[in-house]
Amino acid sequence: MEKKFSYEEINPLNSIEEWEEDVLVRYPDPEKIATSKATEAYRNYETPVRDTVREFYRLNHTYQTYDFVVGKKNDFLKFDKKEMPVWDAFQFLNQLVDDSDPDTDLDQLQHLLQTSEAIRRDGHPDWMVLTGLMHDMGKVLCLFGEPQWAVVGDTFPVGCAYSNKVVYPEYFSLNPDYTNNNYNSTLGVYEKGCGLRNVHMSWGHDEYVYHMMKDYLPESGLYMLRYHSFYAWHREGEYSYLLDDHDREMLKWVKLFNPYDLYSKSPSPPNWTELRPYYEDLVAKYLPATLKF
Ligand SMILES: [Fe+2]
Ligand SMILES: [Fe+2]
Repeated sequence: MEKKFSYEEINPLNSIEEWEEDVLVRYPDPEKIATSKATEAYRNYETPVRDTVREFYRLNHTYQTYDFVVGKKNDFLKFDKKEMPVWDAFQFLNQLVDDSDPDTDLDQLQHLLQTSEAIRRDGHPDWMVLTGLMHDMGKVLCLFGEPQWAVVGDTFPVGCAYSNKVVYPEYFSLNPDYTNNNYNSTLGVYEKGCGLRNVHMSWGHDEYVYHMMKDYLPESGLYMLRYHSFYAWHREGEYSYLLDDHDREMLKWVKLFNPYDLYSKSPSPPNWTELRPYYEDLVAKYLPATLKF
């Protein structure tokens, strides 16, 4: 008989934000790195949090197989789970609150608004502001009962050898694909230079929101959505043999977006009432009345 796992065993993070806190430790804000406040914050980073993140990646790297990814795509990319107006979708996403750290953690909509507002302040085009607003909408996967390791975390190609620049690469040896000769050569099931659009990425909120938005945003915004957690590519420069010219051209957009996601967190919440008219117009300009999930 199969062993039954408890919710905590499957979901080791106290909240899915712990993953992003860990990303920040790996890729600290270059502008804040010299200030004492930031230094102290990183020094105070608790070991137990790191342990939950480590356990999270053990599960993620063990279970994100090629077959798992294809199965999740077949299920979730039908978008037959739910349909709701965009604003209801934000309320829905906001059910994902973090009880473990009420002092510092903002709800999901606040992270999205801080990202989009930082993009807007820097004068980027409105479709990029909208990209910022929508980029983590895929986290609703958690509300459909998906485990944390199938929603968040750094993403990586499946169906080919793993880069050792993916965080905690040692856990890939636990993945059945690691010893499968179809999947464990450098190129695996892919052809050299095939382009990322032909590569299956580990399943999570990036791929899901990309498909949710793919008819509504320009290509550069879609790259930001689809690859924002692919740190081994946009931060480490790995997997060059899978890229085509289009990916190489689009990389600059993914890189442009990343700091707004990582470094726009501030303790003062955006004033939603004030911002609402602008965002209602923006959403109406690009998105349909309802979104499918
Ligand atoms: Fe994200
Ligand atoms: Fe984010």
